Amino acid sequence: MKVANTINDLRQIVIDYKNNLQTIALVPTMGNLHCGHLALVKEAKKAAQKVVVSIFVNPMQFDKTEDLVNYPRTLEDDLKLLEKEGVDAVFTPTPEVMYPQGIGLQSYIEVPDLCNSLEGQLRPGHFRGVATVVSKLFNIVQPNYACFGLKDYQQVALIKEMVRDLNFQIKIIEVPIVRHEDGLAYSSRNNRLNQAERSIAPKLHLAISELAAKIKALPNLNDLEDVIEETINNIDNYGFKTDDLTIVDAITLSPDIKNSSQVVILVAAYLGKVRLIDNLVVDRTK
Ligand code: PAF
Repeated sequence: MKVANTINDLRQIVIDYKNNLQTIALVPTMGNLHCGHLALVKEAKKAAQKVVVSIFVNPMQFDKTEDLVNYPRTLEDDLKLLEKEGVDAVFTPTPEVMYPQGIGLQSYIEVPDLCNSLEGQLRPGHFRGVATVVSKLFNIVQPNYACFGLKDYQQVALIKEMVRDLNFQIKIIEVPIVRHEDGLAYSSRNNRLNQAERSIAPKLHLAISELAAKIKALPNLNDLEDVIEETINNIDNYGFKTDDLTIVDAITLSPDIKNSSQVVILVAAYLGKVRLIDNLVVDRTK
């Protein structure tokens, strides 16, 4: 497995793949890898002949300095895991490599509506940072495929829109959420939960699964206020502090869902200091 920490070194590796007419799948990550990331790598391997993983804790997408500073960095372990998975190349740039002019002077990408709605409203600048770094990685690697996990549902929607709007010739592979046996979605943030919090954490998935069942049973989606309020109360009674619970169209992410056949429940809740997110798509046609 090759490891590159400069753009030129990575480009050289990629040029060799392209000269050999090999297809490339990119898996962008911020490291601290877990089963969710490995599922992305597995899909990447199925799709393309060469798999490139990037590990970069992107300062531009953090709205709170404290989160950036505390973000777990486990590069040595990550590289061992990726080697075992048969990854071909890993890109491990520093912020200076990615943003030589500094973040303030960096050109940026914004996807209208999706950057500043829903999760974007609660985390100003976050999706601008994601769209910018992903477009830089797309330009550096120029992969045929790129894999993203559906745990970050809005992120996937935003990247698909960016790919369409900016004519990137890249197929986005959406990878389903990977969950622990008790239902908790894999996340780097789970490591920050103490034992008591870890035992409560799966209840977030339970609460939105119950909400999904209620939504399916409703004759129409005209008035969801009561079921939403009930779910927020349940989540808070389990010991969380709900930050947001929204139901939007699963394709457009529009809050106008009266005629939607598929909706997605998006939830964010604090457990102690840790903010967990989860989501569930509800298909009303089945
Ligand atoms: O999902 C993530 O880990 C990050 O947002 C991404 C896509 C790697 C961009 O920094």
